[in-house]
Amino acid sequence: MMKGGELLCVLLMAGFVVLLILVLNHLLPLLLNHGVAPGGNFGWPFFGETLRFLIPHASYTLGRFLEDHCARYGKVFKSHLFCTPTIVSCDQELNHFILQNEEKLFQCSYPRPIHGILGKSSMIVVVGDTHRKLRSLALTLLTTTKSRTGYLIDIDRIALEVIAAWNDKQRIFLCEEARKFTFRVIVKQVLGMSHGESQTERILEDFLTFMKGLISFPLYIPGTSYAKAVQARARISFTVKNILVMRQNGGDSSKKGDFLDELLSASNLSEEEKVSFVLDALLGGYETTSLLISMAVYFLGQCPSALEQLKSEHETIRANKKEECLTSEDYRKMEFTQHVINETLRCGNIVKFVHRKALKDVRYKDYLIPCGWKVLPVFSAAHLDSSLYKNPHEFDPWRWKVQNQTSSKRFTPFGGGPRLCPGSELAKVEAAFFLHYMVLNFRWKVDCEDIPMAYPYVEFQRQLPLQIIPTSSTY
Ligand code: HEM
Repeated sequence: MMKGGELLCVLLMAGFVVLLILVLNHLLPLLLNHGVAPGGNFGWPFFGETLRFLIPHASYTLGRFLEDHCARYGKVFKSHLFCTPTIVSCDQELNHFILQNEEKLFQCSYPRPIHGILGKSSMIVVVGDTHRKLRSLALTLLTTTKSRTGYLIDIDRIALEVIAAWNDKQRIFLCEEARKFTFRVIVKQVLGMSHGESQTERILEDFLTFMKGLISFPLYIPGTSYAKAVQARARISFTVKNILVMRQNGGDSSKKGDFLDELLSASNLSEEEKVSFVLDALLGGYETTSLLISMAVYFLGQCPSALEQLKSEHETIRANKKEECLTSEDYRKMEFTQHVINETLRCGNIVKFVHRKALKDVRYKDYLIPCGWKVLPVFSAAHLDSSLYKNPHEFDPWRWKVQNQTSSKRFTPFGGGPRLCPGSELAKVEAAFFLHYMVLNFRWKVDCEDIPMAYPYVEFQRQLPLQIIPTSSTY
């Protein structure tokens, strides 16, 4: 039994520990930086305001947390998120400044558990020279792939294959169908493999486990989604390694000169980096692009006149075609489709923010961003800002007709600066081709209410169920 004096001693020590945590967590950063960081609130010890920041909301809104904080503290404020003192920026100028000063003043800094899943050589987590080396290879490979004759034909055929399979169905889950499509495209583009090959199916199965783990609580205990994801990654690595070895030993001569061939000849990459590179491309090119497609269909459902105009654009393209497959010339004619895609990216906010940290004390206008703090440029804030877009909550593809805003600071669905998404063009082509076959061959109605929710990763909870009716068949 503990005596009164001992109990008091234990209580005092516990009190001291709590006090120490509070000081380290909240006051120390302030004291070290003389309290001149922007206004804001650190919230609870350790978790800070993370739980409030992560409260799910429709992805075409900013969410209560950011709305309240911006109203209270302005577009730039401090908080305590992901266990780190953080500057949140909802200001397009500061966002641009952060992205452009990658590696000089700021650096990509994703939470530790993400490293555990993606692996230490993933392009998304590496920095400095390793990032530059991998990125330059990514750009070379994407350019090589794009110049391949079969590039557009593959995307066209896969879109058709997925959509033609709807003919005997009355109801589909669009998110699943879009995922099927983007997965088949990226596996074809990167590994040169087609749907139905046993290795493709194995990768897909492991990939689904991997994706679940990416968005799970990062606890490595056997049986948890996180642990399963880390194991799934190891299995995918193993499969990819085998594919690389097979290709190195001769493989299929019809695939010479494709993405994988180029990757194998990159002598400055280790085996681990090559495998990681393939995983990055699969990961980057799969879920985001399928969401773009699902969201375009969702927003078109809210705007029948846009759907009509889109349909008419694709009917005209099809009417004037000689060959079956869509070509780069057809793609160039998809002007309104591009407006729909841009507006979907603006309203849908597939990537709401990215993770950075300050490499030194950074003074920007009136703010001090203290060295070592996390910095979150929130892209959706600019996309939904009424001073930048008239009626920002309205899905209005025609706004993109007036001026080309795609390269401006205010429109950053693919990030910016030295980490600008290398797959943006591929994603847009995929969405355009999928929409082409969908609008020409089907009418649809959303089966039950389902909206894109930001968790902050974006998801349709019901997978966007659609009732579909085939129209005149053009395939
Ligand atoms: C609608 C579809 C897509 C969206 C919204 C999107 C968005 C983004 C964003 C915002 C970043 C920057 C991350 C950061 O700065 O920390 C990024 C990077 C990246 N994306 Fe995409 N992406 C899409 C499609 C793709 C595709 C199709 C691929 C693969 C071919 C891809 C591969 C990558 C890679 C490898 C990076 C890392 C680049 C680097 O760190 O240098 N993405 N993407």
